[in-house]
Amino acid sequence: MKLKILVVAGDGIGPEVTREAVNILRSVAEVGGHDFQFTEAAIGGAAIRAEGSPLPQKTLEAALASDAVLLGAVGGNEFNSLPPDRRPEAGLLQLRKALGGFANLRPAFAFPALAANSPLRPEVIEGADILFVRELLGGLYFGQPRAWQRESNSAWNTMRYTRDEVVRVARVAFELASKRRKKVTSVDKANVLEVSQLWRATVTEMAAQYPDITLEHQYVDACAMHLMNTPRNFDVVLTENLFGDILSDESGVITGSLGMLPSATVGGAINLYEPVHGSAPDIAGKGIANPLGAILTAAMLLHHSAHLEGEAQAVESAVRTVLERGYRSADLLRAGDTRQAATSTEEMGKLVNGILNDTLDRHQSLHAV
Ligand code: IPM
Ligand code: MN
Repeated sequence: MKLKILVVAGDGIGPEVTREAVNILRSVAEVGGHDFQFTEAAIGGAAIRAEGSPLPQKTLEAALASDAVLLGAVGGNEFNSLPPDRRPEAGLLQLRKALGGFANLRPAFAFPALAANSPLRPEVIEGADILFVRELLGGLYFGQPRAWQRESNSAWNTMRYTRDEVVRVARVAFELASKRRKKVTSVDKANVLEVSQLWRATVTEMAAQYPDITLEHQYVDACAMHLMNTPRNFDVVLTENLFGDILSDESGVITGSLGMLPSATVGGAINLYEPVHGSAPDIAGKGIANPLGAILTAAMLLHHSAHLEGEAQAVESAVRTVLERGYRSADLLRAGDTRQAATSTEEMGKLVNGILNDTLDRHQSLHAV
């Protein structure tokens, strides 16, 4: 298996957590004899500082020449006064658009070992396993017109979708649901927004092609509540860009920390992999960030771009094992939990990698006999 991976670590904790994710991928390549080639490029605030643009041309070219892009995080407080189109985040949005992936897959599930980390009761989150399919190239993020008109003291963005944009992302959700528990919850605000009425009508129409899938519709405000009340009732959640952004962060509550959530963006020319968490400038450079979201993101890369299912599962189970053995990065230590010291970013990465190597070695020797 040969794979060209562009690593854009970005800002804040991005470089620290991405390093651990790359180490995991290197291990998989080494043990399995795969040829993973890593190239690094600048994005976000780091790219603004070095080259004056949040997505330099050579980063874009390197991304388009790769088989998969692995991103850390973008954003930082020093850029807060810049207009949206010059901020670090603009680099990420341009990159998403250029790569073409429109379906952002964000799994959120409860790790049994972290049951006590969630503010929700263990019996509420136990067994929760949700897959958000967030539309990533439309809606308010990209809709025209958009402006801040200072003369009139007004500003506007446009939530716009075409039928085709809804069809293609809904198809991804239905297909994935058919391999899971066969339920799609489509989230919108169709009681207020025309764009949501188009969304709902289109998704309803598509459901006819998937008779074995149960489709339900929820308004986004109600969904935000149901996710916390009855997370087990959800399987695949299909929603537009901004709603998906908000609901996926909210679902960090189920996992116990936003630092645990991975994502993969598929459907375009080149898949993009990024943890859900941000650049966390307050803890950047201290070596205390949780690398598990980035490591689970690497597992999604192994699954969706390398098609190494066994290896992807081995990474996920190594993460589970590390948690079961009681290791906790700072974000996973509970308030008042004085029993143990936090495990550093690097240590956490090494622990996962160690278990992963043992598993992969064992598999190799099994195949050899
Ligand atoms: C995310 C992030 C991004 C988004 C930002 C950094 C542009 O919050 O991936 O969830 O809003 O999509
Ligand atoms: Mn977000």
